[in-house]
Amino acid sequence: LRLGVLASGSGSNFAAIAQAIADDTLNAQIQVLIYNNPDAKVAVRAEKWQIPTVLLNHRRFPHREALDREIVQTLETYEVDWVVMAGWMRVVTPILLAAFPNQVLNIHPSLLPSFKGVRAVEQALAAGVKITGCTVHRVVPEVDSGAILMQAAVPILPGDTVASLQARIQVQEHRIFPPAIALAATMP
Ligand code: GRF
Repeated sequence: LRLGVLASGSGSNFAAIAQAIADDTLNAQIQVLIYNNPDAKVAVRAEKWQIPTVLLNHRRFPHREALDREIVQTLETYEVDWVVMAGWMRVVTPILLAAFPNQVLNIHPSLLPSFKGVRAVEQALAAGVKITGCTVHRVVPEVDSGAILMQAAVPILPGDTVASLQARIQVQEHRIFPPAIALAATMP
């Protein structure tokens, strides 16, 4: 699998995927990391793994479609066939989805279809649920709504804060994301 990773933040999921590839538990290569925030730590991680990085700062594009056109062009240049959104904090448009039909994956920090959108961890805490988790799913135009590939449950413990809960969810994200990518590829 030739992966293109889109990420905006710390890149712990990016690192988990790169590590799974290095460990030979995921048969893939990361062709390129695209990131949108010049300060994103994920870029430093990619350089450590000697993975090419491309900064596409969304602020420099007039609208989402223009950004996505540039993303598609970059992914094509790097001969990507699977697009992995690992903490990509931008809504993607049909321009990206049409270029990679059924081949765009995302990770979300809740048990979808509960708690879609931003601040999913806060939403789960506020709702008072006792179990939340994370979901790897295919991306469709409606946010956090595509077919579910893999999920992991995480209990909410007394005294949990957003930070403590998020940290436990991320452990599960790092565990399920690589096999979920492999699973997606078996049912393209
Ligand atoms: C993850 O928790 C993911 O669920 C959410 O953004 C976060 C990215 O974290 N969409 P990281 O950059 O991979 O550390």
